[in-house]
Amino acid sequence: MATAASSVLGLGSTGVVGVQRVASSSSTVSSEAASSGFVTRRRGSASGKQLRSEFLPSLVPVKRSSKVGVVARRVGGSEAVRALASDPAQLKAAREDIKALLKEKHCHPILIRLGWHDAGTYNKDVKEWPARGGANGSLRYSMVQNHKANAGLFNATALLDEITKKYPGITYADLFQLASATAIEDAGGPKIPLRYGRKDIEGEHQCVKEGFLPDADPPSPADHLRNVFYRMGLNDQDIVALSGAHTLGRVRPDRSGFGKKETKYTKDGPGAPGGSSWTPEWLKFDNSYFKEIKEKKDAELVVLPTDAVLFEDPSFKKYAEKYANDEKAFFNDYAVSHAKLSELGSEFDPPEGFFLDKPEKKVEPEIFVAARYSSQPEDKQDLSDGMKDKIRAEYLALGGAPNKAMGSNYFLNIIIGISVLVLLSYYLGYLN
Ligand code: HEM
Repeated sequence: MATAASSVLGLGSTGVVGVQRVASSSSTVSSEAASSGFVTRRRGSASGKQLRSEFLPSLVPVKRSSKVGVVARRVGGSEAVRALASDPAQLKAAREDIKALLKEKHCHPILIRLGWHDAGTYNKDVKEWPARGGANGSLRYSMVQNHKANAGLFNATALLDEITKKYPGITYADLFQLASATAIEDAGGPKIPLRYGRKDIEGEHQCVKEGFLPDADPPSPADHLRNVFYRMGLNDQDIVALSGAHTLGRVRPDRSGFGKKETKYTKDGPGAPGGSSWTPEWLKFDNSYFKEIKEKKDAELVVLPTDAVLFEDPSFKKYAEKYANDEKAFFNDYAVSHAKLSELGSEFDPPEGFFLDKPEKKVEPEIFVAARYSSQPEDKQDLSDGMKDKIRAEYLALGGAPNKAMGSNYFLNIIIGISVLVLLSYYLGYLN
Protein backbone atom coordinates (compact mmCIF):
# COMPACT_ATOMS: atom_id res chain seq x y z
CA MET A 1 0.00 0.00 0.00
CA ALA A 2 2.41 2.65 -1.16
CA THR A 3 1.59 6.21 -0.38
CA ALA A 4 2.17 9.00 -2.87
CA ALA A 5 4.30 11.05 -0.55
CA SER A 6 5.60 10.13 2.80
CA SER A 7 7.71 11.60 5.53
CA VAL A 8 10.26 9.99 7.71
CA LEU A 9 10.84 11.55 11.06
CA GLY A 10 13.87 11.12 13.18
CA LEU A 11 16.01 12.97 15.60
CA GLY A 12 18.98 14.93 14.39
CA SER A 13 22.31 14.71 16.14
CA THR A 14 21.42 17.91 17.93
CA GLY A 15 18.38 16.26 19.41
CA VAL A 16 16.12 18.42 17.23
CA VAL A 17 13.37 16.57 15.45
CA GLY A 18 13.99 16.45 11.72
CA VAL A 19 11.64 15.77 8.85
CA GLN A 20 12.69 13.96 5.75
CA ARG A 21 10.18 13.88 2.95
CA VAL A 22 10.29 10.91 0.63
CA ALA A 23 8.36 10.90 -2.61
CA SER A 24 8.05 7.15 -2.81
CA SER A 25 6.81 7.08 -6.38
CA SER A 26 9.88 8.84 -7.74
CA SER A 27 12.36 8.06 -4.97
CA THR A 28 13.22 11.77 -4.83
CA VAL A 29 14.50 12.67 -1.40
CA SER A 30 14.64 16.16 0.05
CA SER A 31 15.44 17.17 3.58
CA GLU A 32 13.87 20.05 5.46
CA ALA A 33 15.12 21.80 8.51
CA ALA A 34 13.22 20.72 11.58
CA SER A 35 11.93 24.16 12.28
CA SER A 36 10.29 24.61 8.89
CA GLY A 37 8.43 21.37 9.33
CA PHE A 38 6.98 22.35 12.70
CA VAL A 39 5.76 25.91 12.27
CA THR A 40 2.55 26.34 14.20
CA ARG A 41 0.14 29.25 14.24
CA ARG A 42 -2.34 29.88 16.98
CA ARG A 43 -5.95 29.80 16.01
CA GLY A 44 -8.15 32.53 17.27
CA SER A 45 -11.41 31.61 15.64
CA ALA A 46 -11.93 27.93 16.15
CA SER A 47 -14.12 27.13 19.06
CA GLY A 48 -14.29 23.71 20.63
CA LYS A 49 -17.78 22.66 21.49
CA GLN A 50 -17.53 20.11 24.23
CA LEU A 51 -19.59 16.97 24.05
CA ARG A 52 -21.67 16.09 27.02
CA SER A 53 -20.31 13.13 28.92
CA GLU A 54 -23.14 10.70 29.24
CA PHE A 55 -21.63 7.67 30.77
CA LEU A 56 -24.35 6.79 33.20
CA PRO A 57 -24.81 3.06 32.79
CA SER A 58 -28.26 1.88 31.93
CA LEU A 59 -29.09 -0.60 34.64
CA VAL A 60 -32.46 -1.56 33.19
CA PRO A 61 -32.57 -4.80 31.22
CA VAL A 62 -31.44 -4.26 27.64
CA LYS A 63 -34.39 -3.99 25.26
CA ARG A 64 -33.04 -4.12 21.77
CA SER A 65 -35.02 -4.29 18.59
CA SER A 66 -36.18 -7.79 17.82
CA LYS A 67 -34.03 -7.67 14.72
CA VAL A 68 -30.94 -9.15 16.37
CA GLY A 69 -29.50 -11.88 14.27
CA VAL A 70 -27.93 -12.74 11.00
CA VAL A 71 -29.58 -10.91 8.14
CA ALA A 72 -27.17 -11.22 5.28
CA ARG A 73 -24.50 -13.53 4.06
CA ARG A 74 -20.84 -12.74 3.96
CA VAL A 75 -19.71 -10.90 0.89
CA GLY A 76 -16.13 -10.30 -0.17
CA GLY A 77 -14.54 -11.39 3.09
CA SER A 78 -16.15 -9.77 6.12
CA GLU A 79 -18.15 -6.93 4.69
CA ALA A 80 -21.79 -7.99 4.80
CA VAL A 81 -24.24 -6.69 7.38
CA ARG A 82 -24.90 -9.44 9.88
CA ALA A 83 -26.45 -8.27 13.10
CA LEU A 84 -28.76 -5.29 13.28
CA ALA A 85 -28.08 -4.91 16.98
CA SER A 86 -25.49 -6.48 19.26
CA ASP A 87 -26.17 -9.29 21.69
CA PRO A 88 -24.66 -8.60 25.16
CA ALA A 89 -23.85 -12.28 25.77
CA GLN A 90 -21.94 -12.50 22.49
CA LEU A 91 -20.14 -9.23 23.24
CA LYS A 92 -18.94 -10.65 26.56
CA ALA A 93 -17.79 -13.90 24.96
CA ALA A 94 -16.07 -12.02 22.13
CA ARG A 95 -14.23 -9.90 24.67
CA GLU A 96 -12.62 -13.04 26.08
CA ASP A 97 -11.63 -14.16 22.58
CA ILE A 98 -10.11 -10.73 21.88
CA LYS A 99 -8.03 -11.03 25.06
CA ALA A 100 -6.75 -14.41 23.84
CA LEU A 101 -5.97 -12.91 20.42
CA LEU A 102 -4.04 -10.05 22.05
CA LYS A 103 -2.03 -12.51 24.09
CA GLU A 104 -1.12 -14.52 21.03
CA LYS A 105 -0.54 -11.77 18.44
CA HIS A 106 0.41 -8.66 20.49
CA CYS A 107 -1.81 -6.71 18.12
CA HIS A 108 -3.06 -4.11 20.64
CA PRO A 109 -1.94 -1.03 18.66
CA ILE A 110 -3.55 -1.88 15.36
CA LEU A 111 -6.87 -2.79 17.00
CA ILE A 112 -6.87 0.57 18.80
CA ARG A 113 -6.19 2.33 15.53
CA LEU A 114 -9.06 0.40 13.92
CA GLY A 115 -11.55 1.68 16.52
CA TRP A 116 -10.24 5.23 16.26
CA HIS A 117 -10.34 5.35 12.47
CA ASP A 118 -13.88 3.92 12.35
CA ALA A 119 -15.06 6.70 14.69
CA GLY A 120 -12.81 9.53 13.50
CA THR A 121 -14.73 10.45 10.35
CA TYR A 122 -17.55 12.03 12.38
CA ASN A 123 -18.86 15.47 11.45
CA LYS A 124 -20.95 17.04 14.21
CA ASP A 125 -22.51 19.52 11.77
CA VAL A 126 -24.27 16.77 9.82
CA LYS A 127 -27.32 15.60 11.73
CA GLU A 128 -28.36 12.48 9.79
CA TRP A 129 -27.00 9.02 10.46
CA PRO A 130 -24.96 7.62 8.73
CA ALA A 131 -24.15 10.65 6.55
CA ARG A 132 -22.49 12.20 9.63
CA GLY A 133 -19.83 9.45 9.67
CA GLY A 134 -18.42 8.06 12.91
CA ALA A 135 -18.38 4.64 14.54
CA ASN A 136 -20.68 2.72 12.23
CA GLY A 137 -18.59 -0.21 11.00
CA SER A 138 -17.61 1.38 7.67
CA LEU A 139 -14.01 0.22 8.07
CA ARG A 140 -15.05 -3.32 7.18
CA TYR A 141 -15.34 -2.24 3.57
CA SER A 142 -12.22 -2.62 1.46
CA MET A 143 -13.13 0.64 -0.23
CA VAL A 144 -12.62 2.45 3.11
CA GLN A 145 -9.58 0.36 4.06
CA ASN A 146 -8.02 1.63 0.84
CA HIS A 147 -8.22 5.25 1.99
CA LYS A 148 -4.69 6.55 2.39
CA ALA A 149 -5.09 7.26 6.11
CA ASN A 150 -6.20 3.66 6.69
CA ALA A 151 -3.12 2.05 5.14
CA GLY A 152 -2.48 -1.30 6.80
CA LEU A 153 -5.80 -1.46 8.65
CA PHE A 154 -7.03 -4.36 6.54
CA ASN A 155 -4.66 -6.34 8.78
CA ALA A 156 -6.80 -5.39 11.77
CA THR A 157 -10.07 -6.64 10.27
CA ALA A 158 -8.25 -9.77 9.11
CA LEU A 159 -7.09 -10.39 12.69
CA LEU A 160 -10.71 -10.16 13.86
CA ASP A 161 -12.05 -12.37 11.10
CA GLU A 162 -12.42 -15.54 13.20
CA ILE A 163 -14.18 -13.62 15.97
CA THR A 164 -16.41 -11.95 13.39
CA LYS A 165 -17.47 -15.37 12.11
CA LYS A 166 -17.93 -16.86 15.55
CA TYR A 167 -20.19 -14.08 16.83
CA PRO A 168 -22.67 -13.08 14.14
CA GLY A 169 -24.82 -11.31 16.73
CA ILE A 170 -22.39 -8.39 17.10
CA THR A 171 -22.28 -5.37 14.82
CA TYR A 172 -18.95 -4.48 13.27
CA ALA A 173 -19.24 -1.01 14.79
CA ASP A 174 -19.46 -2.52 18.29
CA LEU A 175 -16.81 -5.14 17.58
CA PHE A 176 -14.25 -2.54 16.45
CA GLN A 177 -14.82 -0.44 19.58
CA LEU A 178 -14.82 -3.51 21.82
CA ALA A 179 -11.50 -4.63 20.34
CA SER A 180 -9.98 -1.18 20.78
CA ALA A 181 -11.08 -0.68 24.40
CA THR A 182 -10.10 -4.25 25.32
CA ALA A 183 -6.65 -3.64 23.86
CA ILE A 184 -6.19 -0.44 25.89
CA GLU A 185 -7.18 -2.21 29.09
CA ASP A 186 -5.14 -5.32 28.33
CA ALA A 187 -2.02 -3.20 27.74
CA GLY A 188 -2.38 -1.80 31.27
CA GLY A 189 -4.47 1.26 30.41
CA PRO A 190 -7.60 2.52 32.13
CA LYS A 191 -11.00 0.83 32.02
CA ILE A 192 -13.02 2.49 29.27
CA PRO A 193 -16.70 3.01 30.11
CA LEU A 194 -17.81 1.65 26.75
CA ARG A 195 -21.42 1.81 25.61
CA TYR A 196 -22.71 -0.78 23.13
CA GLY A 197 -25.55 -1.11 20.66
CA ARG A 198 -23.98 0.69 17.67
CA LYS A 199 -25.72 0.07 14.38
CA ASP A 200 -23.83 -0.83 11.23
CA ILE A 201 -24.19 0.93 7.94
CA GLU A 202 -25.63 -1.36 5.32
CA GLY A 203 -23.41 -0.85 2.33
CA GLU A 204 -20.47 0.97 0.77
CA HIS A 205 -22.86 3.61 -0.52
CA GLN A 206 -23.31 4.79 3.08
CA CYS A 207 -19.57 5.32 3.74
CA VAL A 208 -18.37 8.90 4.01
CA LYS A 209 -15.82 10.06 1.49
CA GLU A 210 -12.08 10.06 2.08
CA GLY A 211 -10.24 12.86 3.85
CA PHE A 212 -11.70 13.25 7.35
CA LEU A 213 -8.86 11.70 9.36
CA PRO A 214 -5.83 13.76 10.41
CA ASP A 215 -2.53 14.01 8.55
CA ALA A 216 0.62 13.57 10.61
CA ASP A 217 2.65 16.21 8.77
CA PRO A 218 0.32 19.08 7.82
CA PRO A 219 1.64 22.63 7.21
CA SER A 220 0.26 23.84 10.52
CA PRO A 221 -0.19 20.90 12.90
CA ALA A 222 -2.06 22.78 15.66
CA ASP A 223 -4.57 24.29 13.22
CA HIS A 224 -4.96 20.98 11.50
CA LEU A 225 -5.58 19.03 14.71
CA ARG A 226 -8.16 21.58 15.82
CA ASN A 227 -9.90 21.54 12.44
CA VAL A 228 -10.20 17.78 12.51
CA PHE A 229 -11.02 17.21 16.18
CA TYR A 230 -13.32 20.21 16.61
CA ARG A 231 -15.26 18.93 13.60
CA MET A 232 -15.84 15.81 15.68
CA GLY A 233 -17.04 17.93 18.61
CA LEU A 234 -13.89 17.19 20.62
CA ASN A 235 -11.72 19.76 22.40
CA ASP A 236 -8.05 20.49 23.13
CA GLN A 237 -7.99 18.23 26.17
CA ASP A 238 -9.41 15.35 24.12
CA ILE A 239 -6.80 15.95 21.41
CA VAL A 240 -3.93 15.71 23.87
CA ALA A 241 -5.35 12.83 25.92
CA LEU A 242 -6.21 10.77 22.84
CA SER A 243 -2.82 11.41 21.26
CA GLY A 244 -1.51 9.58 24.31
CA ALA A 245 -2.66 6.34 22.63
CA HIS A 246 0.62 6.65 20.71
CA THR A 247 2.27 5.35 23.84
CA LEU A 248 1.42 2.07 22.05
CA GLY A 249 2.39 0.99 18.58
CA ARG A 250 4.56 2.04 15.72
CA VAL A 251 4.68 3.99 12.49
CA ARG A 252 5.76 2.02 9.45
CA PRO A 253 7.32 3.33 6.23
CA ASP A 254 5.39 0.75 4.22
CA ARG A 255 2.05 1.90 5.65
CA SER A 256 1.86 5.57 6.56
CA GLY A 257 5.31 6.32 5.11
CA PHE A 258 6.62 7.53 8.47
CA GLY A 259 9.38 6.10 10.60
CA LYS A 260 12.32 3.82 10.06
CA LYS A 261 12.29 0.30 8.73
CA GLU A 262 13.22 -0.89 12.22
CA THR A 263 14.76 0.37 15.44
CA LYS A 264 16.41 -1.31 18.40
CA TYR A 265 13.00 -1.31 20.06
CA THR A 266 11.09 -2.90 17.18
CA LYS A 267 13.48 -5.17 15.30
CA ASP A 268 12.52 -8.23 17.36
CA GLY A 269 8.79 -7.60 17.69
CA PRO A 270 6.90 -8.84 19.67
CA GLY A 271 4.46 -9.54 16.89
CA ALA A 272 5.51 -8.47 13.39
CA PRO A 273 8.87 -6.69 13.76
CA GLY A 274 9.81 -3.28 12.33
CA GLY A 275 8.76 0.36 12.26
CA SER A 276 9.48 3.17 14.72
CA SER A 277 7.72 3.41 18.05
CA TRP A 278 6.99 6.50 20.12
CA THR A 279 8.10 4.74 23.30
CA PRO A 280 10.57 1.99 24.19
CA GLU A 281 7.86 -0.25 25.66
CA TRP A 282 5.34 0.17 22.89
CA LEU A 283 2.97 -2.54 24.13
CA LYS A 284 2.58 -0.99 27.57
CA PHE A 285 -0.02 1.72 28.10
CA ASP A 286 1.42 4.40 30.36
CA ASN A 287 2.31 8.11 30.18
CA SER A 288 5.77 7.57 28.67
CA TYR A 289 4.59 8.99 25.32
CA PHE A 290 4.34 12.46 26.88
CA LYS A 291 7.74 12.14 28.55
CA GLU A 292 9.42 11.01 25.34
CA ILE A 293 7.92 13.60 22.98
CA LYS A 294 8.79 16.31 25.48
CA GLU A 295 12.42 15.25 25.83
CA LYS A 296 13.01 14.22 22.20
CA LYS A 297 16.28 12.71 23.29
CA ASP A 298 16.11 9.21 21.87
CA ALA A 299 16.87 9.06 18.14
CA GLU A 300 15.38 5.56 18.02
CA LEU A 301 11.92 6.93 18.81
CA VAL A 302 9.57 8.77 16.47
CA VAL A 303 8.00 12.19 17.06
CA LEU A 304 5.50 13.19 14.38
CA PRO A 305 4.82 16.91 13.82
CA THR A 306 1.35 16.37 15.30
CA ASP A 307 2.99 14.87 18.39
CA ALA A 308 5.63 17.61 18.74
CA VAL A 309 2.99 20.34 18.62
CA LEU A 310 1.46 19.09 21.87
CA PHE A 311 4.38 20.71 23.70
CA GLU A 312 4.50 23.79 21.43
CA ASP A 313 0.94 25.07 21.36
CA PRO A 314 0.21 26.74 24.74
CA SER A 315 -3.25 25.25 25.14
CA PHE A 316 -2.14 21.72 24.21
CA LYS A 317 0.99 22.10 26.33
CA LYS A 318 -1.03 22.65 29.49
CA TYR A 319 -2.47 19.14 29.20
CA ALA A 320 0.68 17.52 27.79
CA GLU A 321 2.72 18.75 30.79
CA LYS A 322 0.05 17.53 33.16
CA TYR A 323 -0.01 14.06 31.60
CA ALA A 324 3.79 13.82 31.53
CA ASN A 325 3.84 14.53 35.27
CA ASP A 326 0.73 12.74 36.42
CA GLU A 327 -0.08 9.33 34.97
CA LYS A 328 -3.26 9.00 37.01
CA ALA A 329 -4.64 12.24 35.54
CA PHE A 330 -3.75 10.97 32.06
CA PHE A 331 -5.53 7.65 32.64
CA ASN A 332 -8.66 9.37 33.98
CA ASP A 333 -8.88 11.86 31.12
CA TYR A 334 -7.96 9.27 28.53
CA ALA A 335 -10.80 6.96 29.60
CA VAL A 336 -13.34 9.78 29.28
CA SER A 337 -12.03 10.98 25.90
CA HIS A 338 -11.78 7.45 24.53
CA ALA A 339 -15.38 6.69 25.51
CA LYS A 340 -16.48 9.93 23.79
CA LEU A 341 -14.50 9.01 20.69
CA SER A 342 -16.01 5.54 20.60
CA GLU A 343 -19.55 6.95 20.42
CA LEU A 344 -19.00 9.61 17.77
CA GLY A 345 -21.73 9.55 15.15
CA SER A 346 -23.10 6.22 16.33
CA GLU A 347 -26.76 5.39 16.31
CA PHE A 348 -27.64 2.95 19.09
CA ASP A 349 -30.17 0.20 19.50
CA PRO A 350 -31.59 0.60 22.12
CA PRO A 351 -31.30 4.38 21.62
CA GLU A 352 -29.55 4.88 24.95
CA GLY A 353 -27.15 1.99 24.29
CA PHE A 354 -26.14 -0.41 27.03
CA PHE A 355 -23.14 -1.32 29.16
CA LEU A 356 -21.67 -4.76 29.66
CA ASP A 357 -20.31 -4.16 33.11
CA LYS A 358 -22.11 -2.56 35.98
CA PRO A 359 -20.08 0.27 37.45
CA GLU A 360 -17.90 -0.92 40.27
CA LYS A 361 -19.71 -0.05 43.48
CA LYS A 362 -17.44 1.24 46.15
CA VAL A 363 -17.98 -0.84 49.25
CA GLU A 364 -17.28 1.31 52.25
CA PRO A 365 -16.36 -0.53 55.41
CA GLU A 366 -18.80 -0.10 58.26
CA ILE A 367 -17.42 2.29 60.78
CA PHE A 368 -18.04 1.28 64.35
CA VAL A 369 -16.41 3.85 66.58
CA ALA A 370 -17.32 3.05 70.13
CA ALA A 371 -17.46 6.71 71.09
CA ARG A 372 -20.39 7.25 68.72
CA TYR A 373 -22.55 4.82 70.61
CA SER A 374 -21.30 5.55 74.09
CA SER A 375 -22.21 8.25 76.53
CA GLN A 376 -18.55 8.27 77.49
CA PRO A 377 -16.76 10.20 74.68
CA GLU A 378 -13.40 8.95 75.88
CA ASP A 379 -14.56 5.40 75.19
CA LYS A 380 -12.60 4.96 71.95
CA GLN A 381 -12.07 1.19 71.89
CA ASP A 382 -13.65 -0.93 69.17
CA LEU A 383 -16.98 -2.59 69.86
CA SER A 384 -17.42 -6.31 70.33
CA ASP A 385 -18.86 -8.26 67.38
CA GLY A 386 -22.04 -8.94 69.35
CA MET A 387 -22.52 -5.23 70.01
CA LYS A 388 -21.85 -4.44 66.34
CA ASP A 389 -24.55 -6.93 65.30
CA LYS A 390 -26.99 -5.37 67.73
CA ILE A 391 -26.32 -1.82 66.51
CA ARG A 392 -26.45 -2.91 62.90
CA ALA A 393 -29.84 -4.60 63.46
CA GLU A 394 -31.24 -1.48 65.13
CA TYR A 395 -30.09 0.79 62.33
CA LEU A 396 -31.39 -1.55 59.64
CA ALA A 397 -34.78 -1.73 61.37
CA LEU A 398 -35.01 2.04 61.00
CA GLY A 399 -33.87 1.99 57.37
CA GLY A 400 -30.36 3.27 58.12
CA ALA A 401 -26.87 1.84 58.36
CA PRO A 402 -24.19 2.02 61.04
CA ASN A 403 -21.83 3.96 58.78
CA LYS A 404 -24.49 6.40 57.61
CA ALA A 405 -25.81 8.98 59.97
CA MET A 406 -29.60 8.91 60.25
CA GLY A 407 -31.27 12.03 58.97
CA SER A 408 -30.82 14.49 61.83
CA ASN A 409 -34.55 15.07 62.15
CA TYR A 410 -35.55 11.41 61.92
CA PHE A 411 -36.69 11.11 65.54
CA LEU A 412 -38.07 14.64 65.49
CA ASN A 413 -40.30 13.63 62.57
CA ILE A 414 -41.64 10.67 64.55
CA ILE A 415 -42.43 12.90 67.53
CA ILE A 416 -44.15 15.49 65.31
CA GLY A 417 -46.15 12.72 63.60
CA ILE A 418 -47.35 11.32 66.92
CA SER A 419 -48.23 14.83 68.19
CA VAL A 420 -50.27 15.54 65.05
CA LEU A 421 -52.15 12.28 65.51
CA VAL A 422 -52.85 13.07 69.16
CA LEU A 423 -54.11 16.57 68.30
CA LEU A 424 -56.29 15.27 65.50
CA SER A 425 -57.78 12.64 67.77
CA TYR A 426 -58.42 15.27 70.40
CA TYR A 427 -60.25 17.58 68.01
CA LEU A 428 -62.23 14.77 66.53
CA GLY A 429 -63.39 13.93 70.05
CA TYR A 430 -61.82 10.58 70.42
CA LEU A 431 -59.91 11.54 73.56
CA ASN A 432 -62.54 12.46 76.05
C1 HEM B 1 -3.85 13.35 16.61
C2 HEM B 1 -3.86 12.98 15.34
C3 HEM B 1 -3.26 11.68 14.90
C4 HEM B 1 -2.40 11.49 13.91
C5 HEM B 1 -1.90 12.56 12.96
C6 HEM B 1 -2.04 10.09 13.91
C7 HEM B 1 -1.18 9.51 13.01
C8 HEM B 1 -0.74 8.21 13.06
C9 HEM B 1 0.18 7.60 12.15
C10 HEM B 1 0.81 8.28 10.96
C11 HEM B 1 0.38 6.33 12.54
C12 HEM B 1 1.27 5.28 11.89
C13 HEM B 1 0.46 4.28 11.10
C14 HEM B 1 1.32 3.25 10.44
O1 HEM B 1 2.36 3.60 9.86
O2 HEM B 1 0.97 2.04 10.49
C15 HEM B 1 -0.41 6.14 13.72
C16 HEM B 1 -0.44 4.98 14.42
C17 HEM B 1 -1.22 4.80 15.52
N1 HEM B 1 -2.17 5.64 16.00
FE1 HEM B 1 -2.40 7.57 15.50
N2 HEM B 1 -2.69 9.47 14.91
C18 HEM B 1 -3.48 10.40 15.55
C19 HEM B 1 -4.33 10.17 16.59
C20 HEM B 1 -4.55 8.95 17.15
C21 HEM B 1 -5.57 8.65 18.09
C22 HEM B 1 -6.64 9.66 18.55
C23 HEM B 1 -5.44 7.35 18.44
C24 HEM B 1 -6.24 6.52 19.38
C25 HEM B 1 -7.07 6.98 20.28
C26 HEM B 1 -4.30 6.83 17.72
C27 HEM B 1 -3.81 5.57 17.84
C28 HEM B 1 -2.76 5.06 17.08
C29 HEM B 1 -2.12 3.79 17.34
C30 HEM B 1 -2.42 2.85 18.48
C31 HEM B 1 -1.17 3.62 16.35
C32 HEM B 1 -0.20 2.43 16.17
C33 HEM B 1 -0.74 1.48 15.13
C34 HEM B 1 0.14 0.29 14.91
O3 HEM B 1 1.17 0.13 15.56
O4 HEM B 1 -0.23 -0.53 14.06
N3 HEM B 1 -3.81 7.82 16.92
N4 HEM B 1 -1.09 7.28 14.01
